[in-house]
Amino acid sequence: MSVWAVLAAAGRGERLETDRPKAFAQLNGRPLLAESLQRLEASAWIDSIVVVAPPGWEEPVILLAEELGCGKVVASVAGGESRAASVRIGVGEVADDAAVILVHDAARPLVSELVVERLLGALNEGWDGAVPGLGLPDTVKRVREGAVVETLPRGELRGVQTPQAFVATVLRAAVAGGDEATDCSSLVEARGGRVTVVEGDPRLLKVTTADDLALVESWLGGSSSDAP
Ligand code: C5P
Repeated sequence: MSVWAVLAAAGRGERLETDRPKAFAQLNGRPLLAESLQRLEASAWIDSIVVVAPPGWEEPVILLAEELGCGKVVASVAGGESRAASVRIGVGEVADDAAVILVHDAARPLVSELVVERLLGALNEGWDGAVPGLGLPDTVKRVREGAVVETLPRGELRGVQTPQAFVATVLRAAVAGGDEATDCSSLVEARGGRVTVVEGDPRLLKVTTADDLALVESWLGGSSSDAP
């Protein structure tokens, strides 16, 4: 069973206020992208990696992959205007015979082997897709123009992360429609795909602000080679 990873790294990351795309913001003195790239490379489950780069940064991505010894990286392609467009471009680079595609956000540097194993285990059980999720500590309300219109049943809610893993044919069909969505799972769900949630990881935090970068750095203990 061949497993391909698509690493979505084409976001601009405006809230980080750096002079470069988010994937190249510095985390422990190296590009943010390096952390997830190295972890996916080291995964015993992943055979090949496609990086979706910020437009114009395809070459620096290849150089970074070479520098890190990431031999599983088979393509670095320019992303699109949205995450969904970037994922569609990345999925287009995946070999026809891939069995599973795992889509991950470079903005979540601390991807772990344990989460990858949980996701692939779920696909093995027959699910079309699997996503890591965490229960929500806060009560969640739907608000319109300042007024609370609904309090949602917290027990049923999950904050969903990446990586997200899918049977390759299912994901291909889901992204082909060209629809916009903030994650891949929702595209699969919309087509009737059966997706399960596995236990996520609080350290799969999505880096959005400089404070998030500092927090991830602290988890890494100042050394990017230490596992969290
Ligand atoms: O913008 P957002 O936080 O949802 O981005 C999540 C992930 O999607 C990030 O890793 C980012 O690099 C990626 N992305 C992308 N192409 C875009 C926008 C976001 O690959 N056009």
